Amino acid sequence: MDYTATRDRVETYFDRSATKVWERLTSDAPVSGIRATVRAGRDRMRALMLNQLPADLRGARVLDAGCGTGAMAVELARRGARVVAVDISPQLIDIARRRAPPDAAIDWVAGDMLDPALGQFDAILAMDSMIYYNADDVAGLLTRAAPRLAGRFVFTLAPRTPVLMAMFRMGKLFPRADRSPVMIPHRAADIVTALDGRGTLTEAGRINSGFYISQALVFEGARQ
Ligand SMILES: C[S@@+](CC[C@H](N)C(=O)[O-])C[C@H]1O[C@@H](n2cnc3c(N)ncnc32)[C@H](O)[C@@H]1O
Repeated sequence: MDYTATRDRVETYFDRSATKVWERLTSDAPVSGIRATVRAGRDRMRALMLNQLPADLRGARVLDAGCGTGAMAVELARRGARVVAVDISPQLIDIARRRAPPDAAIDWVAGDMLDPALGQFDAILAMDSMIYYNADDVAGLLTRAAPRLAGRFVFTLAPRTPVLMAMFRMGKLFPRADRSPVMIPHRAADIVTALDGRGTLTEAGRINSGFYISQALVFEGARQ
């Protein structure tokens, strides 16, 4: 499946079938045991990703790429960044806008995460929003952003662990019936191959929390 087809599928899923589930998972409302492990793991991942940037972000323009309901964007703004938060799902953008403190310096945008019209950034964060794309599309997202990025692109992917690969093969990473997007486990080395020398990739760490298994990666584009 190519980039546009994957993105359309992601949009349909988050903007229609999964909006309510996602709204609840990313809130303080009680959730089941499995979802609680996912929520806890995602909280740890958000902190791990933020640790890849300076604690004081005053003066920095930062993109939250695929912001969902906006937790990362709010934290970036709290650290002083001027934030652009973009998501392909207008419904999630509405929820994020309603949830955010009214004085937070965040521009909420419904659209593609790498629309060049979003402008130049000092850093880009993409938490769990590139997990549905194949290696070439991940490399394409990174290299298309590079000319508009002064610093780091911090993102997550599902790692190719034996557990995730077994679930992937059994179709357990996604309920096929509702055409929800397929999470694709990756080896970091395969993304490096797809990048073909266009920038560097380093692993920043992994979070393993029940059903949430994710790795944080840092891309830095080749300087022009
Ligand atoms: C699993 S959610 C994560 C949301 C948020 N980053 C978080 O961690 O709570 C994935 C999000 O990525 C968004 N997304 C995926 N591909 C996108 C694209 N190409 N452009 C904009 N948003 C995208 C989806 O709409 C969805 O809200």
